[in-house]
This record gives sequence, structure tokens and C-alpha cells, in this order.
Amino acid sequence: MKVAIGADHGGFELKEKIVAYLKEKSIDYTDYGTYDMTSCDYNDAALKVTTAVSEKQAERGILICGTGIGMSIQANKVKGIRAALVHDLFTAKATRLHNDTNVLAMGGRIIGDEIAKAIVDVWLHTEFSNEERHRRRVEKLEKND
Ligand code: RB5
Repeated sequence: MKVAIGADHGGFELKEKIVAYLKEKSIDYTDYGTYDMTSCDYNDAALKVTTAVSEKQAERGILICGTGIGMSIQANKVKGIRAALVHDLFTAKATRLHNDTNVLAMGGRIIGDEIAKAIVDVWLHTEFSNEERHRRRVEKLEKND
């Protein structure tokens, strides 16, 4: 699986930890920045990562800003993107099973590195349930794209 990852300055440190984790797990990824702590707009990395996902250069995207909120708002404005802001393992799993999310947003100022890595692991490795009611709801989301 190919993963696109990006952050703003508020998510930079956690993004570096997640990049190292993806490397350790031999998960293929592209890092769309930011590459240091200089203040920047979350929108830019969000648009690079979601473009990679919507154009199928990557199957999934991971976006990290201070809270994860700006990233998730921006990501969900892009056609074909279903982004979830996740800070716990229950929703990491549920949003794959129920919503077939293709982008994971997290807040680097909200959660610790180990829970973030566990969230990434669960989110990347949980398949969409493909149950009829969940398919129907995802199709309704797509109609609003
Ligand atoms: C940057 O200070 C911060 O606003 C940003 O990382 C994010 O939390 C926005 O939603």
C-alpha cells in the first residue's frame, strides 16, 4: 500500500515519527512536507496529499496539524476524499469499517507518539466492512462531492 503523508508546523514533529514508523514497517510512502518547524498553512500539505490520493498516486493519506481540525476540514473539501479526525483506536477502526475513509487526520499537539502509531497501524490495516448499509451511506457521501 502506498501512503501519502503531510503536515504543517504544528504536526511536523509527529509526522517525522510516523514517517519513521512507516519506514520501520516497510510501508511505501511519499512525504509531502512540511520539512521543518517554520510556520506554514495546513491547507498546502492537505491539498498535496489529497491530490495524490484522489489521483491514485497513493491509496491512503495521513495529515497532521496541531489539532488535526484544519487538515480534516481542508481534506474533506476535495472530491473523492473521506477524511476522519481520529485520536483513539475505536474510531480509527470504526471509520475504516463504516466510512471507508481514505485520509486520516491527527493533531500533533493532542496525542502522543505511541497512540498515534497504533492509530496508524489499525487504520491502515482495517478493511471497509462492505456491508450494504455502509456502502449506501458512503455512496450518499459521494453524491455530495
Ligand atoms: C497552527 O498553529 C494550527 O492552527 C494548525 O496546526 C491546526 O491546528 C489548525 O487546525
